[in-house]
Amino acid sequence: MNMVHMIQKKKEGQVLTREEIQWFIKGYVAGDIPDYQASALLMAIYFQGLNREETFQLTDAMRYSGDTIDLSPIKGVKVDKHSTGGVGDKTTLVVAPLASACGVPIAKMSGRGLGFTGGTVDKMESIPGFRTSLEPQEFLDQVNETGMAVIGQTAHITPADKKLYALRDVTATVDNFGLIASSIMSKKLAAGSDAIVLDVKVGDGAFMENLEDAKILAGLMVDIGTDAGRRTVAAITEMGQPLGLAVGNSLEVIEAIETLKGKGPADITELALKLSGIMVYLGGMAVSPEEGMEKTRKALEDGSGLARLRQFIQAQGGNPAVVDDYSLFPQHSVERQLVAEEDGYVASIEARRIGMASQQTGAGRATKEDDIDLSAGILLCRKVGDVVKAGDVLAVFYGNDEAKVDAAVAMAAEAFTISSQPVEVPQLIKEIIGLQV
Ligand code: URA
Repeated sequence: MNMVHMIQKKKEGQVLTREEIQWFIKGYVAGDIPDYQASALLMAIYFQGLNREETFQLTDAMRYSGDTIDLSPIKGVKVDKHSTGGVGDKTTLVVAPLASACGVPIAKMSGRGLGFTGGTVDKMESIPGFRTSLEPQEFLDQVNETGMAVIGQTAHITPADKKLYALRDVTATVDNFGLIASSIMSKKLAAGSDAIVLDVKVGDGAFMENLEDAKILAGLMVDIGTDAGRRTVAAITEMGQPLGLAVGNSLEVIEAIETLKGKGPADITELALKLSGIMVYLGGMAVSPEEGMEKTRKALEDGSGLARLRQFIQAQGGNPAVVDDYSLFPQHSVERQLVAEEDGYVASIEARRIGMASQQTGAGRATKEDDIDLSAGILLCRKVGDVVKAGDVLAVFYGNDEAKVDAAVAMAAEAFTISSQPVEVPQLIKEIIGLQV
């Protein structure tokens, strides 16, 4: 096989074969194919696209480019959940204990945050003592014994995706549907669950900024999962404003705990019940998604979801007392407020800008190597549609560096738009794709 021929073929819009795609991924990971030829192929794919079979083959080649996780020693139908990333998205920390409390084993790998989006692994590390890295046997045993384990992605999973993603980042080829879908799904498939629930975010704080694009991406990922023999469902959900009120690591864990206590914001509660309900259905613990939701609502109301979170924290070395005593989380020393300058209705809270402001407080990282302040972040006091009066507090900012927190307030001030007219609240769950009942 010949790289120049492959680039030429894709440049002309021809279809690449399974053998060619596998040869490319193998050669690129091994270092036999140089970055300049891989870049040229990526750019040809960017302009000519990949059909369903090519997208599946690329996913499959990346999936098997490193270790894959065998979850078969875990009893039951394992269901994974993945969000394409957003601001204030602590859904996993609510969904996983609820689904687990309803009998679905959760054996999940999560990522760290980068830029304006957060990551579950960072959030969990704000719990004193919590370990996000477990030995493989420990991981499997914990799920069998307690019903749930969540760890950081191991270094040896999908090395092809790691290498290609870094190349896409510097060759302006990230924002291509087939490349994004294959990148995400290669990791999901390598992680070994039997079924997958995807939360595809749409809006200014997400990868996909409009509904049409989100539907294309969601459809592609559902097709890949289905072609790989995994029941795969995608929910397309709002990310025009942050999810919930908390943005920042320990702040989001506290909000997740409050949600499991039945005192969470309406949006995160609704989304968590919907996604966990679908997981319970896919996991065979309910005859319909509706019954799944009834079960997860019960797990919320009777406290079994919260009890599962407590058990999970303890099993991974964390201090479960954080569930009752939030002062055990890392503490901030600086606090500032942003107040409304006029009366009216909150028309928008740009998620991306709030995410960037949260990063500015110290809660997020600009590069993978940055340290983060686990106590830092933003608590919104208003959501889109709410009434405000001049002087009302719109948001509170936390951190340990005065200059950073002040800069975050200035940045976040631009995120709010106040209207003199009442505002319609955007629909939270816009569409569900791939749900067969
Ligand atoms: N997230 C991923 O894992 N891969 C992409 O290509 C984009 C977002």
